[in-house]
Amino acid sequence: MTSRIKLIEEAKKLLQENDMGGYTVPTHGLYPFQWNWDAAITALGWMKVDEIRAWQEIEMLLKGQWENGMVPHIVFHKQVDSYFPGADVWGSNRELATTTISQPPVLVSVVKIMLEQAKDKTLANNKLKEMLPSLIAYHQWWYNDRDPENTGLVVSYHPWESGMDNSPAWDKSLAAVPPVTYQYKRKDLEHVDSDERPHASEYDRYLFLVDFYKKSNFDSKVMYKECPYKMYDVGIISILHKGTKDLISLCNSFGVEQQKIHWFEKEYQKTTFAIQRLWNEEHQSFLNTDAITNESFPVLTTGTMLALYGEFANREQAISLRALMKDWLADTGYGMSSTYAKCEAYEPQRYWRGPVWLHINWLLALGTDHYGFDDESQQLKFSSEVLINESGYFEYFNSETGAGCGGGQFSWTAAIALHWFL
Ligand code: GLC
Repeated sequence: MTSRIKLIEEAKKLLQENDMGGYTVPTHGLYPFQWNWDAAITALGWMKVDEIRAWQEIEMLLKGQWENGMVPHIVFHKQVDSYFPGADVWGSNRELATTTISQPPVLVSVVKIMLEQAKDKTLANNKLKEMLPSLIAYHQWWYNDRDPENTGLVVSYHPWESGMDNSPAWDKSLAAVPPVTYQYKRKDLEHVDSDERPHASEYDRYLFLVDFYKKSNFDSKVMYKECPYKMYDVGIISILHKGTKDLISLCNSFGVEQQKIHWFEKEYQKTTFAIQRLWNEEHQSFLNTDAITNESFPVLTTGTMLALYGEFANREQAISLRALMKDWLADTGYGMSSTYAKCEAYEPQRYWRGPVWLHINWLLALGTDHYGFDDESQQLKFSSEVLINESGYFEYFNSETGAGCGGGQFSWTAAIALHWFL
């Protein structure tokens, strides 16, 4: 058992060691660039170390923003060879190279927390005024680009966009994507054991999609029409929805014109109704659904549980989700396994197919707080503390043993610990 003071010092030191001068790598070697939702969450940790540096993390991420508003999933600030697929494979053809998809848009909600918690209010207000137009453009991009038919539900084009790469929730849809037939060399396996990482058959399809965007010239219309993978991802939809709620509140505080605010309110309303299409009575859960075939997948994951964070569940649904969460938590002493242990696809050590991720425990705790489910919220927090005490700042944790998995010295794990319970 490590002392609290020591854990705080270690977490702060870890962020400093992962600092590349304005942006933080998730961990050296395995992930040597700036990732979208990692950057947002890591900024929460920086708030406990250095507020100027925390705002800079967000500014550096926004440097990668596209003219159409997209904030990419990776910004390749510097050339590094330890990662595949790198900037050349994505082919974004931009001065500051980026990937060509996005990631769960937790950014706005984080910025709102940063503003609320800032000790230096003048700095926070100034930063917010500067970045608000970019945040607005990012959320507009999601609705315009990923829901051009105005269904109320945005689609995602890649498992990597979900941030939950090899989640079993999209096995079937990914299997329908053709594999690439050329040879390539993965670099993740040089850093982490293969039994903790996605399979080769999945990587072949991840790359096919990357090539597809390039061949489509990143044209939104072509991609929407022809992308062989389109998912209604409950996780992304929930995080976007909560982000939009927070954005509306920020826009009101900062005097953004009413017309823009109304536009977001309309989008928010539309999704509030549309999400009910993803509720499944038999499984008493919202389910990820293939937007091409309309097939929904009865695989319960932390992504589907994020509906609580999105505040989508009505009273009865919330009661069912709470019962499910109780059962889920009873299977592990470490919080929410990324896949429900009673699902066939569950594997306790393989990346997004079972392990526990600290930032997801935190998002789910915010969801349970919203519904007043205090016991579950406390349990999530307590088990997250146990994980850090027992295993330290790993990328994710074996859901049965609590052992650290994946990359070590991981930024978002340290940041969540600093922000949430240290
Ligand atoms: C992996 C995770 C993703 C994360 C990235 C960097 O790809 O699945 O969620 O953003 O690593 O940590």
